[in-house]
Amino acid sequence: MIEAARAKVNLALHLRRRRDDGYHDLETLFVFTDFGDVLRVQAEEELSLALTGPLAAAVGDGDNLVLRAARALAAAAGVAAGAALTLDKHIPVAAGLGGGSADAAAALRLLNRFWRLDWPVARLLPIAALLGADVPACLVGGTVMGTGRGEILTEVEIGVAGTPILLVNPRVAVPTGPVFAGWDRVDRGALDPAAWRMSRNDLEPPAILLAPVIAAVLAALAKTGASLVRMSGSGATCFALYATIADRDFAATSVESAHPGWWVCPTTIV
Ligand code: C5P
Repeated sequence: MIEAARAKVNLALHLRRRRDDGYHDLETLFVFTDFGDVLRVQAEEELSLALTGPLAAAVGDGDNLVLRAARALAAAAGVAAGAALTLDKHIPVAAGLGGGSADAAAALRLLNRFWRLDWPVARLLPIAALLGADVPACLVGGTVMGTGRGEILTEVEIGVAGTPILLVNPRVAVPTGPVFAGWDRVDRGALDPAAWRMSRNDLEPPAILLAPVIAAVLAALAKTGASLVRMSGSGATCFALYATIADRDFAATSVESAHPGWWVCPTTIV
């Protein structure tokens, strides 16, 4: 059995308030891409995880979110069986693409089928929320507005499905916590999902302070004829949207040749 763990992109992200629990109340517009990791499962008495793929080495093993998701679901459902999981890792780690969260959500969806629980998504959501702020959005997928820590979800229709998107990461891992902690705590107002194009990612300035190369990524993408250029999540991955696949692929080639060290991924919003 196999399950896609799609990369997450925050089309816009507004921070509203630092909370007493260390998290931030935010408003964000999540979309998912054709590109991502792939999780596979086979029968096994014990629970295990093997890593394959180009970015397997970048994943820390000890506290992997896939195993935490599997253990949480097994405990909640009283499952005694194990599972041999294989994660084919393509999404850069600590990159603002929700890789770990997508993997955890894929584990919940996959094992829900594999262990024949067939729980509705609504029953998996509380488990997802305990695993991380972005895991519920990754579980639901599609175009969703997230509020609270990002775990309170509302479906929205903004007509972006099928849009060609280019993801570019300068191969600098940016830890999420310090980026949030660097926010200037100025509430710049609510996110209107209908006006997301005119909106922003409030984490861009603190992320650029920690990793100045992000400004260079945004500048490089701004020269490619994109209809919109922005950072995703807490960075360092930035994205650009294009009218056509040919425009996107032309941009990918030009960014790649100007910056051979950067990770460049042409894909599509699902
Ligand atoms: O929930 P998750 O483990 O993915 O969050 C990682 C870190 O991101 C948190 O420890 C916190 O520092 C920051 N964060 C936040 N506010 C949010 C989501 C994440 O401050 N709404």
